[in-house]
Amino acid sequence: MSILCAEQLVKTFGTGATGAASVAAVRGVDLAVGEGEFVAIMGPSGCGKSTLLHLLGGITRPSEGRVLLEGVDLAALDDDGLATVRRRRIGFIFQRYNLLPELSLVENVALPLVLDGASEAAASTTAAAALEAVGMADRRGHRPDELSGGEQQRGAIARALVAAPAIVLADEPTGALDSANSARVLDLLGRLVVERRQTLIMVTHDPAIAAAAGRLIRMRDGVIASDSGAASPADGPRP
Ligand SMILES: Nc1ncnc2c1ncn2[C@@H]1O[C@H](COP(=O)(O)OP(=O)(O)OP(=O)(O)O)[C@@H](O)[C@H]1O
Ligand SMILES: [Mg+2]
Repeated sequence: MSILCAEQLVKTFGTGATGAASVAAVRGVDLAVGEGEFVAIMGPSGCGKSTLLHLLGGITRPSEGRVLLEGVDLAALDDDGLATVRRRRIGFIFQRYNLLPELSLVENVALPLVLDGASEAAASTTAAAALEAVGMADRRGHRPDELSGGEQQRGAIARALVAAPAIVLADEPTGALDSANSARVLDLLGRLVVERRQTLIMVTHDPAIAAAAGRLIRMRDGVIASDSGAASPADGPRP
């Protein structure tokens, strides 16, 4: 069974304030991802990779089509329900990190746990361990604007993983990292897939990273141009 399913997903952004034409960022994507899969998404800048990832993670709502996460139609959830699913089941690593500027790094990482009812002490301990795993333990008390881009990126990765989500959606998670930290993050994410059977969908421009994935999807102009591991249409055993 698929843990994440997209059916005929379309996202069209409306006309801008300047009267610019609307943009069809995602133009009809069908996708089924199984538990424990590691999927890489590649494609030229502007082809819709981030938009697709945001739709899959319930961060933006589709113009058409639907997303099923563990069998639940995200469109059927109200904003609170969606927020809960995102906090508990999905770890999202944003292309632009999105750490809250007024919180320290460890507070940023602990936030999903605190919002979910954990005590601040317990959340802080778990957050510190998550920071340790990305090599950021010694910067836990710093605010994001006191950190380099790569350090913020590693903090954002710790935040995405802190609640041990079933699905990790990562938008170029190593884009700002040097090769040593990039290898460390990939090793960490890879172990989650193997040891915890977490599902990982990662946008990347790096062919070497894509080669480590079990499945490669190439996007072009808002559609899937190729998919090395597409399930059969019936998503079950062939007759
Ligand atoms: N909020 C928005 N409003 C209008 N257009 C948008 C918006 N977000 C994205 N787009 C447009 O949708 C298209 C796809 O953008 P998207 O960010 O998904 O590309 P991408 O494949 O992630 O590119 P990159 O590799 O540069 O990150 C682009 O043409 C972009 O300009
Ligand atoms: Mg992008």
